[in-house]
Amino acid sequence: MIKYVSAGDSHGEMLIGIMENLPAGLTVNEEEINFYLSLRQRGYGRGTRMRIENDKIHIVSGVSNGKTTGAPLGFLVKNRDFEINKTKREFTVPRPGHSDYAGSVKYAFENAAIPSERTSARITATDVAAGALLLEYLKLFGIKIFFFVKSVGKFSVRSFPFDKKTFEYALSNDLLAPSEDAYSGFKREIDEAIKRRDSIGGEGIAVLKNVPPGIGGYGNFTDKLDGIIAQFVMSVPSVKYVEIGNFDSSKFGSEFHDEMFVKDGKIFRKTNNAGGIEGGLSNGEDIIVKFGFKPIPTVLRGVRSVDIKDFSSRKTVYVRSDTCVVPAGTVVSAMKISIALSQVLSEQFGGDTVSDVSDNFRRYLLRRKKFWQR
Ligand SMILES: Cc1cc2nc3c(=O)[nH]c(=O)nc-3n(C[C@H](O)[C@H](O)[C@H](O)COP(=O)(O)O)c2cc1C
Repeated sequence: MIKYVSAGDSHGEMLIGIMENLPAGLTVNEEEINFYLSLRQRGYGRGTRMRIENDKIHIVSGVSNGKTTGAPLGFLVKNRDFEINKTKREFTVPRPGHSDYAGSVKYAFENAAIPSERTSARITATDVAAGALLLEYLKLFGIKIFFFVKSVGKFSVRSFPFDKKTFEYALSNDLLAPSEDAYSGFKREIDEAIKRRDSIGGEGIAVLKNVPPGIGGYGNFTDKLDGIIAQFVMSVPSVKYVEIGNFDSSKFGSEFHDEMFVKDGKIFRKTNNAGGIEGGLSNGEDIIVKFGFKPIPTVLRGVRSVDIKDFSSRKTVYVRSDTCVVPAGTVVSAMKISIALSQVLSEQFGGDTVSDVSDNFRRYLLRRKKFWQR
């Protein structure tokens, strides 16, 4: 199975990623990876840190002539802030909502600034690099990921098509908004949060296209595709819910479930409330993952907390921060899904080389096709 681990601190010298068990011969498209890294950096409502950084992947092993060799792939993303900002970060008033308090308790730190060195979303740059690199792996299966911001604060887009055109529009604006209306609605909410010296959350959607039926597993609960995706997305900083499809407890079963029909010898459905996963397996429909971000913990106006030094009642002190991270967090979530699905596919189709993987997949499609097309 493809494995990925990372290391690095928010204000350390660099972030490090290691990827194992990639098949040999996979194209490593640095330009594309850097494009996704730049998407993570942008977004109206980001703080000054993102103006300092200019994230680029630097590959140090496992690639020859632009293709993977099968050896562990090591890469770095530098923290430019490390060169510029040498002030020691120290505070004893934890920010509610951040890891400052619970992390200080766990590791017995007197300095509440230390835990967020690793929990800060700065470290998601390596997740995005790994996920973007694996988009090339997903291409071996014909799979694509589209992603959008669905809501910011009180402004929510009810529905929009999850198609290429809408995705291109989302990529063309710095809020990943699916429409012009959505863009101005999201921006209004962020402006209000900035005016209030506050932070604001929202929701994103990622859609996986062309996933054939039968991907995932149900042998053990750890094999289930929905559970695996949920874990990868839930671990994105600030994400507080993950939903597959359209959860709606007001509907009866006969209204909710996606009925099956046949046309021209092909099974199809008119709805996709299941979000493309049934019983822990893909069912051939688009996989639709929705996720929600809480407003980030650092707020300019401060919130009430307690000094862990002497238990005095204090307001949190502002440290440089974003206002809204929903667009950036949506990029991170989509790239985490890329890693999750690549892992599942690599477990199911294996292969030491790209041709081995493609052959295994082709064989699967040939043998299973009779279940969806006759
Ligand atoms: C892209 C991105 C950027 C973030 N930037 C900040 C930030 O500048 N300030 C902050 O307090 N939290 C920020 N967060 C959220 C915190 O990292 C997160 O709330 C914290 O690690 C606690 O984790 P939890 O919210 O998942 O419980 C960001 C999250 C994401 C996804």
